[in-house]
Order: sequence, then C-alpha cells, then structure tokens
Amino acid sequence: MLITLDDVTKSYVLGKQRVTILKNVSLSIAEGDFVGIMGRSGSGKSTLVNLIGFLDRQFSGEYYFEEKLVDQYTDDELSKIRNEHVGFVFQNFGLIEAMTVTENVELPLLYAGIANQTKTQLVLESLRRVGLEGLEKQSVKLLSGGQRQRVAIARAIVNQPKFIIADEPTGALDSKTSLEIMKLFRDLNINHGVTIILVTHDVNLMTYCSREIKVSDGEVSL
Ligand SMILES: Nc1ncnc2c1ncn2[C@@H]1O[C@H](COP(=O)(O)OP(=O)(O)OP(=O)(O)O)[C@@H](O)[C@H]1O
Ligand SMILES: [Mg+2]
Repeated sequence: MLITLDDVTKSYVLGKQRVTILKNVSLSIAEGDFVGIMGRSGSGKSTLVNLIGFLDRQFSGEYYFEEKLVDQYTDDELSKIRNEHVGFVFQNFGLIEAMTVTENVELPLLYAGIANQTKTQLVLESLRRVGLEGLEKQSVKLLSGGQRQRVAIARAIVNQPKFIIADEPTGALDSKTSLEIMKLFRDLNINHGVTIILVTHDVNLMTYCSREIKVSDGEVSL
C-alpha cells in the first residue's frame, strides 16, 4: 500500500480548549488510485491532505508511507521524502511570477540537485505532458488561469513523484477550463500511472475519480 492512515487524530489547542479537526481517521490509498476528497468548507479536507503530503507531522495515530512508519523519519528526512515523492497543486497555482515557465517547472529539480542536461529533458517532458510545449520561455505573468495551472501541474510531476496532492485545483478556473484540467489529471493517472489525491467542492468532478472519500466534521467515510 502506498499510504495508510491508522486512527489518525489531529487537534489544535486554542487557549484552554482543545479543538479536534480530524477524528480517528483510517484509510488507505494504493498506487494508481485517483481519489476524490469531498466535504463542506471547514470539514478538514486541507488538514487531511497536508498531513498526507508530509506538511504536518503533529498528529496522533499512525501514518505509513510505503509500509514504513512516517514517525520514524527526522524532519530533514521527511522534507527530502516530500520533495522527491510528492507533487502539490493548489487553487492559486503558487507560481513565482517573476520567473518563466521553465524556471518555475525546474524548481523541484534544483532542490533535488539534478544535473543540468537531465533537468532540461525532464522539464521538456513534463511541459509536453501538460500541453505547454512552445511556451518554455514565456513569463508566467502572461499566462491564462488554465495555462498557469498546467505550469503548476508540470512542476508537480517533474520529479516523477509517487503521488500528487491537488487541493481545489480548479477552484479559480471557469467550468470549461476546469474540465480540461481534470482531463489532464485523468490522462496522467491512466496513461502515466500517477496517483492523484484531489480535493474538490464540485461533485461533477467525481466522475474523473476512481474513488471517493467524504470528510464530514473531521470524520472520514469511504
Ligand atoms: N492552524 C490552525 N489552528 C486552529 N485551527 C485550524 C488551523 N488550521 C485549520 N484550522 C481549523 O480546522 C478546520 C478544518 O480546516 P481545513 O482547512 O482543513 O478545512 P477544509 O475542509 O479544507 O475547508 P475549505 O473547503 O474551506 O478549504 C477549520 O475549522 C479550521 O478553522
Ligand atoms: Mg481546504
């Protein structure tokens, strides 16, 4: 199994009160899954995927990544695992405006210390996969929302990660562009075996997913 959460609970202490955001969550995600996570605003979806993406290790219960307990890694080891194995896509793209398309996409490779020639090839290959060939030198400032999200997806896949976390990736896009982005995710999932964990409010997008996870007030139902 790629990801297993066993009885995970996440809470914050606010003043004298303890607020529990995720309650006894147990779930598994296999390689090749395309998981859709749905739930109301504030139900705990982002909290859940941030934890799955190793952005947050302050929780109780067990998280196994590739059958190994995440808790056993140091912070540095976990950062390395995150950089190598997880691609993130967010609603507001998270691109660096002053940079070109290529410069944005190659960022994860710089952190990973990949050699130049390999880097160029990997960047071109991911831009091709998202349909942005020809725009390598374009400043991201000049791109449309859909093109920006494609750049973010190219950046997320350039490291050939084990899984992608997409938290409301179509939240800032019109419905036609949203469907194009969903088709792109589906292509990456089906034709390139990329595991995708997608958070969305839009029930229409569930048809692109192979499984659904519902989050309701911090509780997960499969
Ligand atoms: N750092 C924090 N300290 C305290 N409470 C927090 C913190 N971060 C999030 N929360 C609370 O956790 C709950 C779940 O938040 P989360 O962002 O996971 O919801 P969500 O399902 O992603 O919502 P949305 O659909 O609006 O993005 C909310 O009630 C939020 O206020
Ligand atoms: Mg959220």
